[in-house]
Amino acid sequence: MRIDIISVVPDLMRSPFAESIMKRAQDAGLVSVHFHNLRDYSANNYKQVDDYPYGGGAGMVLMIEPIDKCIAQLKAARDYDAVIYMTPDGNVLDQGMANKLSLLTNIIVLCGHYKGVDQRVRDLYVTHEISIGDYVLSGGELAAAVLCDSLIRLVPGVLGNETSALTDSFQDGLLAPPVYTRPADYKGNKVPDVLTSGNTPKVEAWREKEALKRTKEKRPDLL
Ligand code: ADE
Repeated sequence: MRIDIISVVPDLMRSPFAESIMKRAQDAGLVSVHFHNLRDYSANNYKQVDDYPYGGGAGMVLMIEPIDKCIAQLKAARDYDAVIYMTPDGNVLDQGMANKLSLLTNIIVLCGHYKGVDQRVRDLYVTHEISIGDYVLSGGELAAAVLCDSLIRLVPGVLGNETSALTDSFQDGLLAPPVYTRPADYKGNKVPDVLTSGNTPKVEAWREKEALKRTKEKRPDLL
């Protein structure tokens, strides 16, 4: 999978991609991530990429021209399966969406900033509009990092144990069951006996029961 991220502040996003699973995925050649600074595509010497909104009002709007240039340059080099715009008024990201998007080969992720992008960008180029929740961030960068993390961990081969994404919360419509590690007894607080029993079918049954219980308690809306 190749991910091209367009932003006015790409440095805001670099560190999540330079650590842990997102880094390992890139090092293993399973995913490549490319940052594009919108200012490099500005048409003027001041590297301007935003302007006042027509009709007045607070805030600045990202201009169409630099975005058009950047997307055109990317599309001239390869085909893209999706141009995703991160925006609080998009479809709220969930595991089902992440599963589908993780199957794509080349994607562009456009980060909004200030008041957002000129509507013509959304009308002309954007194929998916995604929000990471009903709250407003200062820009789409952190949201893009969240989206990419959710996709990259699903790319085959990225997680050491191929089944481990399958046991994540939400993959079967339920929250994940509780997990424990050593010691089996910490100051009198014991791990459930079944987990140390060595009886795999019993462990599986316990996990299913606990996943259902946790989902009923915390997220009954999922059932
Ligand atoms: N940009 C600003 N807020 C956002 C959100 N909640 N999701 C995606 N992009 C955003």
